[in-house]
Amino acid sequence: MHPMLNIAVKAARRAGTIISRASENLDVLTIKHKSLNDLVSEVDRAAEDAIIDVIGSAYPEHAILAEESGASGQSEYVWVIDPLDGTTNFLHGFPQYCVSIGLLHKGIPSQAVIFDPTRNDLYTASRGRGAFLNDKRLRVAKRDKLIDGLIGTGFPFRMFDYLESYNAMLKDLMTKCAGVRRPGAAALDLAAVAAGRFDGFWEIGLKPWDMAAGVLMITEAGGLVADFEGNDTFMERGQIVAGSPKIFSQLLQLIQPHLTAEMKSLSKVLLDPKRS
Ligand code: IPD
Ligand code: CA
Ligand code: CA
Repeated sequence: MHPMLNIAVKAARRAGTIISRASENLDVLTIKHKSLNDLVSEVDRAAEDAIIDVIGSAYPEHAILAEESGASGQSEYVWVIDPLDGTTNFLHGFPQYCVSIGLLHKGIPSQAVIFDPTRNDLYTASRGRGAFLNDKRLRVAKRDKLIDGLIGTGFPFRMFDYLESYNAMLKDLMTKCAGVRRPGAAALDLAAVAAGRFDGFWEIGLKPWDMAAGVLMITEAGGLVADFEGNDTFMERGQIVAGSPKIFSQLLQLIQPHLTAEMKSLSKVLLDPKRS
C-alpha cells in the first residue's frame, strides 16, 4: 500500500471509531445549523480533528482542505477531508454515512479512502493502482443500457435555484432506467458506482470534500466522471455525473437538455483560458 494511502486509512479508521461510539448515544449530541439543511455536531468536529492529527503528524508540510475547519497550508499535496459525510443520516440513526479522505497532488486525485463504519467497509484507491473494497478489486458495472441501470442521485436540498431543472432531469430519467436511489451520503454514492452497485450517479451542489475520494475510486474502477457538460471541472463547479463508460454517456445526454443558462455560463467562466 502507498505510504500516503496507509496514513489516510489510519486517519479514516480513527474517525470511524469516534463516529461509531457516538452513534450509540445520539440523544446527547449538540447539533448546530451551519445554514438551512446544513447540520454539524461535535462528532463531525472531533472526527475531523482526529484525521488532521494523524495526517499532520505524518506529513506536516502538506496542505489541508477540511469541511469544518477550512483550508490551511500551501503545498502541491492537499488532503481533502469530509470527516462525516451523511451527517443528517447519522443524526437520525440511519446507517448510511462515512468518512471521506482524498489526496490531491498538483490538483490531481492520487489517493482515496472512504470508510463506512456501519459496515466496517474500507474503500481505497491509489492513482494507477486500482480501487478496492476491503481486499476485493472494484470494477464498475457491465450493463450497457440505461433502461437496465440503477442510478444514484442527491437532491439539491440546499440550492433551491436548481430544483426546477433537477426535477426535470429526475422526471425524464424515471421512465428511462431501472430505478433511482437517494441514499444521502455522496462519497458512499460514488463508492457504489465504483463497486458496480450503481450504474450511474449525478448530483449538483456538492463540495470538493464530497467528491475528492469518490472520483478516484470510480476512475480506478474503470468508470468516468465529469461535470454536466462533460468537462473535468466537476470539483470547481460542484456538479457531477459519473458511471460506467456506457451509462455515463447516456446519463450525460439525458441531463444536458435540462441545463439552465446559469449552469452553463458557470462552466464557460471556469473554462475560459483567459481567466487567471
Ligand atoms: C452531504 C451528503 C449528501 C449530499 C449533500 C452533502 P454532509 O454531505 O453527501 O448526500 O446530498 O450535498 O452536503 O453535509 O452530510 O457532509
Ligand atoms: Ca459531505
Ligand atoms: Ca460532512
